[in-house]
Amino acid sequence: MDADEVLSTTRAVRKRLDPDREVPESLIRECVTLALQAPAGSNLPRTRFVVVRDPARRAAVADIYSDIYLSSYRASAGYIGRVEVAGEEAAEVQRRTAGSADALERALHEVGTIVIACLDGVRLDGSPAFTSASMLGGVLPATWSFMLAARARGLGTCWTTMHLAREKDVAEVLGIPYESVQQVCLTPLAFTRGEKFGPARRPEAEQVIHWDGWDATKPAAPPVSGIAAS
Ligand SMILES: Cc1cc2nc3c(=O)[nH]c(=O)nc-3n(C[C@H](O)[C@H](O)[C@H](O)COP(=O)(O)O)c2cc1C
Repeated sequence: MDADEVLSTTRAVRKRLDPDREVPESLIRECVTLALQAPAGSNLPRTRFVVVRDPARRAAVADIYSDIYLSSYRASAGYIGRVEVAGEEAAEVQRRTAGSADALERALHEVGTIVIACLDGVRLDGSPAFTSASMLGGVLPATWSFMLAARARGLGTCWTTMHLAREKDVAEVLGIPYESVQQVCLTPLAFTRGEKFGPARRPEAEQVIHWDGWDATKPAAPPVSGIAAS
């Protein structure tokens, strides 16, 4: 796979995670090694990957995800299956994504590896935008690189933040020091059933490029809603 193919086919994999093929530790190390090539503020990598393989701990993390998904998120206005989009084609994509998100809630209990990317050294609760952007900007590129490296090795991932509604509980399960380490993203990691994935439907480049400054005629993003808004 060349770079463009990896970049355009790294999907949120939920229904095609194979729980029956164990992911070797060596592959996880390779993905992390590549992830650490991402930029980091002050050239100080603060990204940490908590790789959860222990069955009891995995189950506890998956239970927390399910609890939030089923008791808060699925009933909320922000549930992906309830978000209004223009056009039948886009609506069909949203319906499919909702079915897929529902499937992940179940799949998380089956996959052998869950990875939680963390920011080590600071919590951003109430931090100024400059601090948040600088600190998160040191973790998000590495986390996405991890996922791209995984895709190039036949592994599937799915970026999620749902569990952060109960971040402290997950920190307790995994012994993560909540006061100084902020969890940023949780992903399953598993071989995919089949390796063929395609590009997703996305806005045209021209819709999101603001040439020479902000262009108010370009489509605005929708307001933030759902449990992440509170
Ligand atoms: C910040 C962020 C948070 C997300 N949280 C969740 C989540 O909690 N659960 C989930 O199933 N998917 C989650 N997703 C995955 C998105 O739903 C997914 O990226 C989107 O549907 C596009 O998927 P595609 O790239 O396969 O088209 C999240 C993605 C991002 C970037």
